[in-house]
Amino acid sequence: MKTIGILTSGGDSPGMNAAIRAVTKAAAAENIRVMGIRKGYKGLLEKDMFIMTPQSVEDIYRRGGTCLGTARFKPFSDLEVVKKGAEICREAEIDGMVVIGGDGSFRGARDLTHAGIPCVGIPGTIDNDIVCSRDTLGFDSAMNIITDCVSKLRDTTETLDRCSVIEVMGAGAGWMALEGGIATGADVIIVPEIKFDFNKDVIDRLLQKKRNGQTYFIVIVAECVFFPESNSKSKKNVNLKYVNDMGIETAAKFAAKIQELTGIDSRATVLGHIQRGGAPSFHDSVLAYDMGVHAVDLLKNGHSNRVVVSQNGQITDFDIDEGLAMKKPFDEQRYRRALDINF
Ligand code: F6P
Repeated sequence: MKTIGILTSGGDSPGMNAAIRAVTKAAAAENIRVMGIRKGYKGLLEKDMFIMTPQSVEDIYRRGGTCLGTARFKPFSDLEVVKKGAEICREAEIDGMVVIGGDGSFRGARDLTHAGIPCVGIPGTIDNDIVCSRDTLGFDSAMNIITDCVSKLRDTTETLDRCSVIEVMGAGAGWMALEGGIATGADVIIVPEIKFDFNKDVIDRLLQKKRNGQTYFIVIVAECVFFPESNSKSKKNVNLKYVNDMGIETAAKFAAKIQELTGIDSRATVLGHIQRGGAPSFHDSVLAYDMGVHAVDLLKNGHSNRVVVSQNGQITDFDIDEGLAMKKPFDEQRYRRALDINF
């Protein structure tokens, strides 16, 4: 292994830069050169690449986003395009590749491996929807942002005896809403995986809490409940038709309906892309380091088509196909308990 290529693909996430740094440094320590590829698979096809040195990545660990840029590049699902990508890698003398991204990026890495370029994936997404890994780069950082934002919203919501409906990201999955709701003690948590009934699970619940003496309320809703078309995993969304039929297909309408049926003054906040920005948390920084070093070890030792994962506090790896086929069922018990104890 003389040269390792590295690219980031799909949505960026805090911790990607720290992983790029770890890969570059760990490779240099083994006299392996690192070729940075800009803008994911798109940049590979455009031969947009440059040599990265340990000096050039010195302080990038503390920055959000990814210094390599990223892209969602659909054409890379075409095997002919992948073959072209492999040819470009060979021309550039890239002997192995580290791909940082989500499921779609790993499918590209698997196909590139089959086309002759050994690849290793590192899970980088705020959504935490990579089924084979307990943690993904960026999830913890994004959750810290959600926790901070909800805390700020709590201040003004409490002051005015209001209800705040807060829409969080997560693509097709409710992990961000669930963990964000637990961390902030939300009164209602709506996720795409668990069917909800607006009157029973939102209105009756809020009114009961009001009767119990509560004066203000926090409702967290996963974006996918409203916008499933924004991602390919929307088939799992059991609530889409329901919110459409109710005419509450945006956070603003959700809040307006609460106000109409409970009389509680309500406002909506869509946290949006702010959840993806900023420096990585301590947790993501260390995870990025561990995963980056592990990825270099795998390639150096002749392994390929692997995805680096974090399982029970340990860094390990799986075959990419195996990893993609795994299931991480939504933790319904944890979800129900969080609501049951918060009456
Ligand atoms: O996958 C990360 C993510 O931030 C999702 O949570 C969100 O649905 C999506 O990306 C937004 O994508 P874009 O930045 O292309 O609008």
